[in-house]
Amino acid sequence: MAIRPILRLGNPVLRQIAEPVTEFGTPALRELVHDMLDTMRANDGAGLAAIQIGVLQRVVVFEVSANPRYPDAETVPLTVLVNPTIEFLSDERDSGWEGCLSVPGMRGLVPRYRSLRYRGFDELGAPIDRTVADFHARVVQHECDHLDGILYPQRIEDMTSFGFQDELVASGELPVAAAAAD
Ligand code: NI
Repeated sequence: MAIRPILRLGNPVLRQIAEPVTEFGTPALRELVHDMLDTMRANDGAGLAAIQIGVLQRVVVFEVSANPRYPDAETVPLTVLVNPTIEFLSDERDSGWEGCLSVPGMRGLVPRYRSLRYRGFDELGAPIDRTVADFHARVVQHECDHLDGILYPQRIEDMTSFGFQDELVASGELPVAAAAAD
């Protein structure tokens, strides 16, 4: 288990398409998941994709519980999600503030689908099938975007709502306790 360096926006690896996992329960996959959880928690992240530590596999982890970076965010259970697929349940979208461990210090207002069903597997190959909404749905969309080489700034529609977190808070645009996803 180890805390791994996180690649930052501009590193071309973050633009790659990650490959599906073909074998579950292997020592390599379990070590990857442990490293991702260690790295996410050490950085108070709400989620992390394998690609962010330079591993081009379709693996994401997320967890929101008493996170000091998002004190008002709703709880999302610890989830290890491999080979995820997403099905949007309506065209309804909400805008919410997001951050990303690969874009440190910044926040942007990102429209995301409000509700979705996601499916995939845990690291041992057990199926996951959940229907979620709101912040949970936002986190899933943010993390799964990473697997296709997409970072949240590409999803921002109004670039005036993108900037350094401290500036946005100082100007009053970003609520101090804004829920975000990264
Ligand atoms: Ni991110």
